[in-house]
Amino acid sequence: MQAAARARSNIALIKYWGKAPGQLNVPAVGSISVTLDALWSETRVEFDAALAQDRFELDGQQRSDQAARVFACLDILREQAGTELRAAIVSRNNFPTAAGLASSASGFAALVAAAARALDLSLTPRELSIVARRGSGSAARSIFGGIVEMHAGKRPDGTDSFAESLLDAAAWPLKIIVAVTSKHQKAVGSGPGMARSAQSSVYYPAWVESHAADMDLARQAIIDRDFTKLAEVSEASCLKMHAAAMAAQPPLVYMNGTTLEGIHLIRTMRDAGTPVFFTVDAGPQIKAVCEAQGSAAVQSALESLPGVLDVIVSELGPGIEAV
Ligand code: PMV
Repeated sequence: MQAAARARSNIALIKYWGKAPGQLNVPAVGSISVTLDALWSETRVEFDAALAQDRFELDGQQRSDQAARVFACLDILREQAGTELRAAIVSRNNFPTAAGLASSASGFAALVAAAARALDLSLTPRELSIVARRGSGSAARSIFGGIVEMHAGKRPDGTDSFAESLLDAAAWPLKIIVAVTSKHQKAVGSGPGMARSAQSSVYYPAWVESHAADMDLARQAIIDRDFTKLAEVSEASCLKMHAAAMAAQPPLVYMNGTTLEGIHLIRTMRDAGTPVFFTVDAGPQIKAVCEAQGSAAVQSALESLPGVLDVIVSELGPGIEAV
């Protein structure tokens, strides 16, 4: 009863920020993301009658801080399989954990894919996406490759809150350039940050209300491969999310000075004709999305930006894979 799986990280172009009421980790809004080939988690799950407790190891270390969420996600699959067997989970990331590179997305997607196989559950990708969502909202998207849409859903039981593929990785050869500006763990994680924004930001209701229109614009831009339209709506969604977070009490400022310099740099390059736009998640890293022909220039501009510590270049990648 063991299996291993690999899942890639993803970055949202149209952001998820805020949860629906209830305990099922249903997002308040949908989202659209790109799956990154270069950043992945690999997870092996082994159910074993000799184990009295679940065990979770990440990058060679027992991680008690994250174990509760991991075991809770496993419980959902154990219930579906009708077993109480405990498991040993060994996971590794090929990139630094919790530095704003969406390790929870790839981590929970790989966990769910491996555990479902180890339990011999034949779940569809959609069903895996629903279980992965319980671990982390963005993980629901990492089940799929290329460009992915997450549906917020309306049902209180969360059965219509899942991701699905919009476009295969090969259908639009975009490149994502991640500029790392800090290697510190963020002060406020996305879950508590969302809760604080929903409770106290005067801009949060406007964020939720205006979100569906951004989803529609982005979906159409993706269908049309209209890079300029996708650039405009993605940057707007990102800045709206940050505006809602900044207006929370106490305020949430995820960007640092280098993040802002990177945003200006990318917008200046686009004004001068390079097909590139930025996005920033709940952390200070800059993510530049480019069409292939502009990516070398964007990479070298970001590498030369003072305060940038590391640059990672990725193409769009596939969804979950058995290892
Ligand atoms: O999946 P979570 O709970 O880590 O939240 C992700 C939140 C953002 O990265 C800021 C946006 C997104 O849609 O990925």
